[in-house]
Amino acid sequence: MVKFDSFKYISALAVLVHSSLAQCPDFTTYSQKPHDPPSTGRLGLPYMRPAPACRTFNSSAVEKVIGDMKSLIKDPDVARLFENTFPNTLDTTVKYFNPDENLAFIITGVKAQWLRDTANQFAHYHSLLSIDSELATLVKAVINNEARYVAEYPYCGAFQPPPESGLASTHNDWADGVTVNPPVNNQTVFECKYEIDSLCGFLKLSRSYYQATKDASFMNNNWRDAIDQIFRVINEQSQPTFDENFNFISFYNWTGGNGALSPMVDNGGNGEPKAYTGLVGTHHRPSDDLSVFAFLTPANAMLSVELNHLADILDDTKQLRNVSEQAREWSVRIHDAIWKTTVVDNIFAYETNGFGGRYVMDDANVPSLLSLPYLGFLEKHHPAYSATRKLLLSPRNPYFAAGKSFNGVGGPHVDPLHPWPMSHISAIFGTDDDNEILTSLYTIVNNTQGLGLIHESQSIRDSSYTRSWFAWANSYFAEMVLDLAERKPGLILKENKKYVAGQK
Ligand SMILES: *[C@@H]1O[C@H](CO)[C@@H](O)[C@H](O)[C@H]1NC(C)=O
Ligand SMILES: *[C@@H]1O[C@H](CO)[C@@H](O)[C@H](O)[C@H]1NC(C)=O
Ligand SMILES: *[C@@H]1O[C@H](CO)[C@@H](O)[C@H](O)[C@H]1NC(C)=O
Ligand SMILES: *[C@@H]1O[C@H](CO)[C@@H](O)[C@H](O)[C@H]1NC(C)=O
Ligand SMILES: *[C@@H]1O[C@H](CO)[C@@H](O)[C@H](O)[C@H]1NC(C)=O
Repeated sequence: MVKFDSFKYISALAVLVHSSLAQCPDFTTYSQKPHDPPSTGRLGLPYMRPAPACRTFNSSAVEKVIGDMKSLIKDPDVARLFENTFPNTLDTTVKYFNPDENLAFIITGVKAQWLRDTANQFAHYHSLLSIDSELATLVKAVINNEARYVAEYPYCGAFQPPPESGLASTHNDWADGVTVNPPVNNQTVFECKYEIDSLCGFLKLSRSYYQATKDASFMNNNWRDAIDQIFRVINEQSQPTFDENFNFISFYNWTGGNGALSPMVDNGGNGEPKAYTGLVGTHHRPSDDLSVFAFLTPANAMLSVELNHLADILDDTKQLRNVSEQAREWSVRIHDAIWKTTVVDNIFAYETNGFGGRYVMDDANVPSLLSLPYLGFLEKHHPAYSATRKLLLSPRNPYFAAGKSFNGVGGPHVDPLHPWPMSHISAIFGTDDDNEILTSLYTIVNNTQGLGLIHESQSIRDSSYTRSWFAWANSYFAEMVLDLAERKPGLILKENKKYVAGQK
């Protein structure tokens, strides 16, 4: 617990509403300019943590890891990037936390809580949850807040602050002119794009919390309702577009217009038809872009992995046997359907439709094909991964692009000439080759435009980039550096001795 002696008689001490810190600069603006002191490395990267008084959550366990890594990492520029990125979620995105209400609201950089981003924004802290009880309490509050969202709106991916916070809802220009079914309340929902990986993010955060703490108290009524709704979505979205009598089956449809998307989504907001394969369809991708075909391979891979974990934690705690059985059945069904329907000549398609349609490409946003080993779906040495990876990191992938100093995989979310640093992080998680790891690492390190944070995308032609403040990318980078410190210490640390965060 952080102590504020002067406030110790105020019972609402633990309630943190950070929008009220008016004197603190908005981090979107703050992150567009370098701040002193620069690192002592070749790149002289700036120090980009907000002033202590402006940080949205303090964790001594996180500070200890930063101190350890700063003294262990060889290259001062890599150390500085770690120092800036590892605490970014806690420094900048905890907009509300009330342990008594068991509620926390986490933003992404945009003022709404995305299920996917939030799960990723905490992934690099999992090993600290068993040693920092306040951090664990925060994550439990995040899970409970999300459980309420998912229980009510399982088809949506981004949400407004909980009413208890008193924080104002934010108008989403991109949702203007959108018709979505089932309809949503815009005081709760920020954006109702249906992305199956959002639900996987919620499952991953839940099981990671349990694995780290062995505390099952997050499995409350909200959580059980959310899990039921996730199975509802799985059952609905695995169905084909037509039944045997050619009735058109639609449980969710989203039609754009105005600022949202042009042209409108075809087939009444349903997109391209799909046939039954055993996979679960999605409507939008992890980039929030519209899917071309409904069966997104990497999201199904993540779903298969997470359903298996869900079954494990339920069995471990002797709860909801009916759910754990269904979770295992679906996990196997999806796993088998991925191998049977998406792979040709060892190449995974990014999307399929069950009629033979395949889209061979990758998009940087995780879950991506490049991140299949990170997701836990297969080993990095699997021949199908090796062959697919080789294709994805070449001009045979429509969203791969390379210039003089930057290259990588991007996606239509920005444009084909702006690859994403995130793709290099996924690539590092997917290889044991030292040269590939260092090349990807330095492609990222060399390309922060002197701002010392991980951006969304970077032009291959010039210095233009998108999103100065992208908490997910910062967290994913730090998670990767910690993974290397454990898996390949000699590559980045002064001594070839592994470092494991959270271990004495
Ligand atoms: C974090 O600690 C600083 C003092 O180092 C304090 O000013 C700030 O309010 C703390 N933030 C939170 C959310 O407790
Ligand atoms: C919610 O929708 C109403 C009606 O379309 C609109 O006037 C209002 O601005 C919206 N609120 C938010 C927070 O988007
Ligand atoms: C859209 O989805 C709703 C269910 O949410 C369904 O009742 C309706 O028929 C669908 N409309 C179309 C055009 O598919
Ligand atoms: C599992 O069983 C419980 C209790 O009977 C029920 O409320 C719940 O809806 C079931 N869940 C699923 C996913 O079938
Ligand atoms: C990073 O920049 C250094 C110095 O300009 C250069 O030697 C190195 O090749 C670059 N690395 C990559 C992977 O771009």
